[in-house]
Amino acid sequence: MLLLVLNLSFMLTFMMLWDLGNPFHEAYNVADFTASTNYSNIVTINVTASVKGRFFIKGVSRGRALVQLSTNLGLPKTDNVLISVGARLYPQNPVLQVGRSLDFGIEGLINKSRGRWMSANESVVRVDPISGKTQAFAEGTTQVFYTYSEGKLQTTITVLGGNILIVEAQNQTLTNVPFPSKGCYFSVELRGADGQILNIGINNEVLYKCWVDPPFVGYTKPWRDFETGKSFCLFFPYSPEHLVYSMPKSKDMRPDISVTISASLREADHVSGHATALFIGGFSVVDLGKVRRAKNGNIII
Ligand SMILES: *[C@@H]1O[C@H](CO)[C@@H](O)[C@H](O)[C@H]1NC(C)=O
Ligand SMILES: *[C@@H]1O[C@H](CO)[C@@H](O)[C@H](O)[C@H]1NC(C)=O
Ligand SMILES: *[C@@H]1O[C@H](CO)[C@@H](O)[C@H](O)[C@H]1NC(C)=O
Ligand SMILES: *[C@@H]1O[C@H](CO)[C@@H](O)[C@H](O)[C@H]1NC(C)=O
Ligand SMILES: *[C@@H]1O[C@H](CO)[C@@H](O)[C@H](O)[C@H]1NC(C)=O
Repeated sequence: MLLLVLNLSFMLTFMMLWDLGNPFHEAYNVADFTASTNYSNIVTINVTASVKGRFFIKGVSRGRALVQLSTNLGLPKTDNVLISVGARLYPQNPVLQVGRSLDFGIEGLINKSRGRWMSANESVVRVDPISGKTQAFAEGTTQVFYTYSEGKLQTTITVLGGNILIVEAQNQTLTNVPFPSKGCYFSVELRGADGQILNIGINNEVLYKCWVDPPFVGYTKPWRDFETGKSFCLFFPYSPEHLVYSMPKSKDMRPDISVTISASLREADHVSGHATALFIGGFSVVDLGKVRRAKNGNIII
């Protein structure tokens, strides 16, 4: 199942693989591909935008719908993807310093006036029930909830004391279509115990490292903008075609794909931080089976 935030679209790609696992590119020339949904009031499929075998899917109302992809290559083949369209809370899994505050928000919500924010442990963080503004009081880990007419959303918040690295996604939603050639920016700041910003770069040396979880979605590297002195982890997602190979082969995919970028100081591992963003993009979820080329050049499916 894939989770889609209301009003955001993403791309589904057909992939056909040779039995050795290489992509069968010729399929795009010889076959027709179609996509349909059993609930067009929940998801819409933009066929005009499709390169052969690629479809843009958009969530237009809350609920679950089945998207069926088919091809007439060889014997007709179909595969189904269950799409769940709903709301999402952000930022996911933030790290906050004692005494600091942050604003939680919701995207993909139809009626914002009905929800209420709540903290599971008010000695760690307090959340304004209406605005989602959150203040950190003591070190610890707890949950923040948003309860609304159609359900409940939640995330974990970690509050740390002492020096910490604050990692922040510049964009809550990442995509690999179109490919971000300059990378997706996650700012990295070292804050002292009383909140002041400390320097993490000496001349050309980068004093922190970056990593990404789950690692199959792409790679990340530290980068310093020498003009502004600002530090970042740059995240480069893999292309949809690459994701076919790097994604775990398990059929039960996670309901959504979120990407966590973490940073820590090279000389002091415990000084670290992370930020999570949603990954919506082209990824190929459909493997319509393996194909083989017979000795006479015909294609066998
Ligand atoms: C379909 O995609 C094309 C090209 O990206 C875009 O111009 C068009 O507005 C889209 N149509 C709908 C109904 O979203
Ligand atoms: C559409 O597919 C979903 C998911 O399998 C299913 O729950 C629903 O009953 C289907 N609706 C129709 C009208 O076929
Ligand atoms: C949103 O919720 C409020 C409070 O329950 C209600 O008064 C209002 O009519 C709702 N608006 C919509 C568009 O559903
Ligand atoms: C709330 O967090 C504080 C600080 O971490 C901890 O001491 C306390 O036991 C927590 N309370 C509950 C009810 O979990
Ligand atoms: C952030 O994501 C949105 C939605 O995908 C996109 O329209 C926008 O261009 C992105 N902004 C940046 C700075 O990447």
